[in-house]
Amino acid sequence: MAKSEHIPVLASVVLEVLAPEKGESYLDLTAGYGGHARLVIEKIANSSRATLVDRDSSAIKTLAKEFAGAKIIHSDFLTASELLVKTSTKFDLILADLGVSSEHLNNPSRGFSFQHSVPLDMRMDASQELTAREVVNNYSEANLAEIISRYGEEPKARQLAKFIVANRPLNNTIELAELAKQVWPVHSKVHPATRLFQAIRIEVNNELGQLEKMLPRALDLLAPGGRLAIISFHSLEDRLVKQFLAEHASGYDAELSLITKKPITASKNEIAFNPRARSAKLRAAQRK
Ligand SMILES: C[S@@+](CC[C@H](N)C(=O)[O-])C[C@H]1O[C@@H](n2cnc3c(N)ncnc32)[C@H](O)[C@@H]1O
Repeated sequence: MAKSEHIPVLASVVLEVLAPEKGESYLDLTAGYGGHARLVIEKIANSSRATLVDRDSSAIKTLAKEFAGAKIIHSDFLTASELLVKTSTKFDLILADLGVSSEHLNNPSRGFSFQHSVPLDMRMDASQELTAREVVNNYSEANLAEIISRYGEEPKARQLAKFIVANRPLNNTIELAELAKQVWPVHSKVHPATRLFQAIRIEVNNELGQLEKMLPRALDLLAPGGRLAIISFHSLEDRLVKQFLAEHASGYDAELSLITKKPITASKNEIAFNPRARSAKLRAAQRK
């Protein structure tokens, strides 16, 4: 899929819960190729009120071209939010649409693909040190089993970890994906390497660590009356978001009120149109 074809997930729900008004300020912590940003900026009607963050330099190049007036930050969202807190900036609208972009999954050279034989990479930011090659070839069997089970929710994690260790060194994505096929000789429509690749990707990019530490900073950055929306794609991510929002929305000194009591998921229609929306869960809250 071309970059311009990236379809923003739960787009109408994002507009409904953020309810952007003309002149409000907007922080997009995972701006990607600007799908959601384009819609929100249209409503706030002033791109210079927008701050767009992404850790991927390819996304940043596209954002810089399209949103000339916006402030664009090439960084992981934890570092970016810490920096913004230091400058005492506040935002009326904050969005994080977690995970990978279609560019990551569909551009074979990024090393996320098990359809093409490419070096094991999976870094969202090519300047990061840790790569999938390092995880797969150097982590202990026990560590791999834990990661594959927790992040991939893979029932055969231990067997898969054993296979990986027995077949090292693994040099490319197809070699890794073939091991998943051996563990799951008969499989459904979902490629047997899907959960394994998700797990390795989450580890390489420290996705849960980033989210857990970013959430309190996002709250610091939210102006009174400001709205925060998070879209997650994994039960561990959703649990972190749910607990964080619930904790700050309870008690007499609560800083937030929940906009969504339950997570909002995509309609059947949206999923048919955009399969990535299948596991999306959106939660939102407003600063008091
Ligand atoms: C699902 S895409 C976002 C798509 C975007 N909302 C749109 O509509 O085009 C997720 C983006 O977040 C970025 N990303 C993921 N984790 C990040 C992090 N910890 N810090 C900064 N960017 C991150 C990825 O590089 C990717 O471009």
